[in-house]
Amino acid sequence: MRLAKYLARAGVASRRAAAEIVRAGRVRVDGQIERDPAREIDAQRVELDGSVIAGPEEPVVYALNKPLGVVSTARDSHGRRTVVELIERDSRRLYPVGRLDAQTTGLILLTNDGELANLLLHPRYEVSKTYRATVGGGPVKRAALVALREGIELDDGRTAPARARLLAPQVIEIELREGRKRQVRRMCEAVGHPVSALERTRFGSLELGDLAPGAYRRLTDDELAALRAQARR
Ligand code: URA
Repeated sequence: MRLAKYLARAGVASRRAAAEIVRAGRVRVDGQIERDPAREIDAQRVELDGSVIAGPEEPVVYALNKPLGVVSTARDSHGRRTVVELIERDSRRLYPVGRLDAQTTGLILLTNDGELANLLLHPRYEVSKTYRATVGGGPVKRAALVALREGIELDDGRTAPARARLLAPQVIEIELREGRKRQVRRMCEAVGHPVSALERTRFGSLELGDLAPGAYRRLTDDELAALRAQARR
């Protein structure tokens, strides 16, 4: 296995970030600095910044229902609770697949498999994400839904075509194939409906289902295979 992949599989970083770490001279193989991310690794001793890296871990993916106020970075500089801390009894180095705002609830994936995380997040693969937004500004009219579907001019460019439908007069379900910062909030705001509550209900083929806030479960092999297949389409 190539060195960058070995590091990604060991949970150090995504494969691309691992390659940068190698090029930066932070990795030793059998005691020698190695700057080639493609170097083949079998049974050598691999060290990062002086610490030995245990061999690749079994890949694991969790689905978590992120509660309100919990942050989805691996660590928080303000000491807030993180999604990673909610996964108990797993000593692997897990990281979130993408981000949800602290004020957004719902489905977020966590994994030690940097490659899979990359695959699921890469805009090229366009894995869709579905959100349920409860909004202010009165009952949502058809024109607002059409605008959400067709694309909205935001300060970082026009949004791609999306799906949007009403679940209740002030509850919009919206499915996006992109993931810009605070995108759903900004889109709804732009059509006159500020979001008061936002929940992610689907990630690709995966549904939040009846996971309670703060609860999580490991994905089955079949679910993982389905996610990988979507990302490769
Ligand atoms: N869009 C948002 O506005 N916030 C999120 O957390 C996710 C998508």
